[in-house]
Amino acid sequence: MASPPVIFILNGPNLNLVGSREPGLSAMHSLNDIRSSLDERATGLEVKVDFRQSNHEGELVDWIQEAMAKASAVIVNAGAYAHTSIAVRDALAMLQVPVIEVHLSNVYAREHFRRQSFVAQVAKGSIVGLGPLGYVLALDAAAQLCKGAAANKASRRIQ
Ligand code: DQA
Repeated sequence: MASPPVIFILNGPNLNLVGSREPGLSAMHSLNDIRSSLDERATGLEVKVDFRQSNHEGELVDWIQEAMAKASAVIVNAGAYAHTSIAVRDALAMLQVPVIEVHLSNVYAREHFRRQSFVAQVAKGSIVGLGPLGYVLALDAAAQLCKGAAANKASRRIQ
């Protein structure tokens, strides 16, 4: 049997403090709670999730490059780097697989500087403001996109 598609879920700076200290996000579930619910969901969707968090821009870039070889889709909450990092944006732009951006908070309803996202420019879609549910919806979408891509590949082989 073919191995399940792997979906990288990458989280940027300060998201390790969601549920405790991250301003605006302190009433949320912790990142570990989010990770557990996604692992459960992934089983039902027959995909494998690789969930990571880093406070370091270069480490996120390394992981995005690693995704080039290993991932069938990437879900990314780049935290503040979404608004500032051309390095993260450029790495994501090199991926051949779908990228879905997630933000727990509604970045459009917060400070003006959060309204620009470099990640959104290279993402297939963005989900903002829905809290942890945003990750679940992103995972559902990523799984569907992976299956669609696999089916297309198979039908190209048959033709
Ligand atoms: C965030 C939104 C960003 O603007 C902020 O810097 C974060 C959290 C979110 O998930 O809502 O770190 O990415």
